[in-house]
Amino acid sequence: MTYLSHRPRRLRSTPALRDLVAESKLSPSDFIMPYFVLEDATEPQGIASLDGVYQHSLSSIIQDIKQCYEAGIKAVIIFGVPVHKNSLGSGAYARDGVVQKAVREVRNSFGDDIVIFADLCLDEYTDHGHCGLVDRNGRVDNDSTLELYQKIALSQAEAGVHFVAPSGMMDGQVQAIRSVLDKSEFKDVGILAYSAKYASGLYGPFRDAVNVRIADGGDRRSYQQDYRNARESLKEVFLDVSEGADIVMVKPAITYLDVISRVREVVDLPLCAYHVSGEYAMIKAASSLGWIDGEAVALEQMYAIKRAGADLIISYFAKDIARRI
Ligand code: PBG
Repeated sequence: MTYLSHRPRRLRSTPALRDLVAESKLSPSDFIMPYFVLEDATEPQGIASLDGVYQHSLSSIIQDIKQCYEAGIKAVIIFGVPVHKNSLGSGAYARDGVVQKAVREVRNSFGDDIVIFADLCLDEYTDHGHCGLVDRNGRVDNDSTLELYQKIALSQAEAGVHFVAPSGMMDGQVQAIRSVLDKSEFKDVGILAYSAKYASGLYGPFRDAVNVRIADGGDRRSYQQDYRNARESLKEVFLDVSEGADIVMVKPAITYLDVISRVREVVDLPLCAYHVSGEYAMIKAASSLGWIDGEAVALEQMYAIKRAGADLIISYFAKDIARRI
């Protein structure tokens, strides 16, 4: 391309002009607001490493979602914090488990006005903190885990989710969940696949929020992705698409903008990015020290995610930003 003029400033001189020619747009309906629900809680509890985020009770979550709804947000994703954990993580698929109860409340209150996603995983419910079943040698067993994921999917569908969001990075999880939903009366329940999910140091505050500690100082590197790899993400995404994902996701977001942009080029499905707890906490911490303007940096990062090619963003900033834009 040859440019006859060299005056880009012409397009930058006033706020109205800048708005007119902005390539990326951000709207409240781009966001999915994450919620933690604490089993048997009567009051919302603060989370030390996630300033401004709470472990909600069944009534406080409804109040908070109302505020999101008024700000134009159309979707929430719900995570459960159970009181009891065990080796099978059976609280994850209990009919009256914490997520199932919360989903019922939210669906009763908002019907189809709010799209309800539920995180589908075991780590919040297992005493060893892994996302799957652990065998005698301490290894996560992929295939027996899939059977439990199917049970979780059915119980969340029965409670009233619009989408399940499997985050455990087991091979074949999307296909296993799709097939069990299709055989049930919940064929319309969709799947948001955490397709390219990296073994990241940025999930620490989330683990505080759901009271998870991985046994024996372990980590998730045998099932989550290695951050030295980007092409591997395309493979993971293609597999999930072929297994029946309706929306695919890259996680975390800011450290993986290259991945978001590469996935965007090859996938036509809606693409979601998860701006994770550590990304939120870094902004909050630096901002509370007066070292950065947190509100400005949060907005800059959201636009960066959109510019990279994401359609949807899960972010703890969702409500605040929706109120500001
Ligand atoms: C697993 C899950 C995790 C997050 C979302 N789903 C934690 C993990 O993989 O260890 C992290 C999200 C965040 O950091 O905000 N159920």
